Amino acid sequence: GVGTPPVVPAPRPAPIAGTVRVARRRRYVMCRPEHFAVRYAINPWMDVDVPVDRALALRQWEELRRTYVSLGHEVLLLPPEPGLPDMVFAANGAVVVGDRALGARFAHAERAAEAGHHRAWLSAHGVAVETPEHVGEGEGDLLVVGRTLLAGTGFRTAPAAHEEAARTLGLPVVPLRLVDPRYYHLDTALAVLGDDDVAYLPEAFDAEGVATLRRLFPDALEVAADEAALLALNAVSDGRHVVLPAAAVRTADALAARGYSPVPVDLSELLKAGGSVKCCTLELHARPA
Ligand code: ARG
Repeated sequence: GVGTPPVVPAPRPAPIAGTVRVARRRRYVMCRPEHFAVRYAINPWMDVDVPVDRALALRQWEELRRTYVSLGHEVLLLPPEPGLPDMVFAANGAVVVGDRALGARFAHAERAAEAGHHRAWLSAHGVAVETPEHVGEGEGDLLVVGRTLLAGTGFRTAPAAHEEAARTLGLPVVPLRLVDPRYYHLDTALAVLGDDDVAYLPEAFDAEGVATLRRLFPDALEVAADEAALLALNAVSDGRHVVLPAAAVRTADALAARGYSPVPVDLSELLKAGGSVKCCTLELHARPA
């Protein structure tokens, strides 16, 4: 939590011209893919006719969990529920800042029951959870950057849910409209790298969204479409180490050139449901100072 020492950085030479990036210890919630499957298709990545290897999904997920622990982070586990094959995507169940959270109201009936499990778990862990009136899928569309919430809309989260998030969490919200169904959640089109640094796919946003992002983050990393199509942006950063899908090697190189330490993890089985590193990771954010 707050006040814990920073993670010891991996031994790697400081970038020649880049900024020194500083890691902060994080708390994450993950949910084992014990019941993972692709039995319905609610985004363009999902195809019920493509077989899923659940044992492999479990091994890949375990590697992600182990990676966070080895970087010095705390990983808490939300118990998986039978009949909820997408529950592994823990990021969608809430957005948590300090001891307050906005829960989820899922856009699709297939995932609706996940919201209650998140709510119960967070309440049991001392977090006051607001139940949203409007459709909102947690950190899928609401990303904390410094003292701001970047808020996606267009496919899942309703603009009215942005207001609920601002009220509940006490942070200003910057709405961003998504326009490509492959990038249905903000966390598939934009990665938070640090308190004032992001990476994103410009083509995933409407013109106003791109203008907003260029104004707020003039030096942001803009990734190419073929990298975004590997879910390169579905990444988790502690401020220094950026855990990202292993196939996204060009994004890893671009991050290294900016002074980050990329940490590749292969989550190919979970990609069959349209999710990767960030989708599997709900952060319990410390309240920004
Ligand atoms: N199959 C899930 C869905 O379509 C994937 C969710 C991925 N999560 C994320 N944070 N983008 O809802």
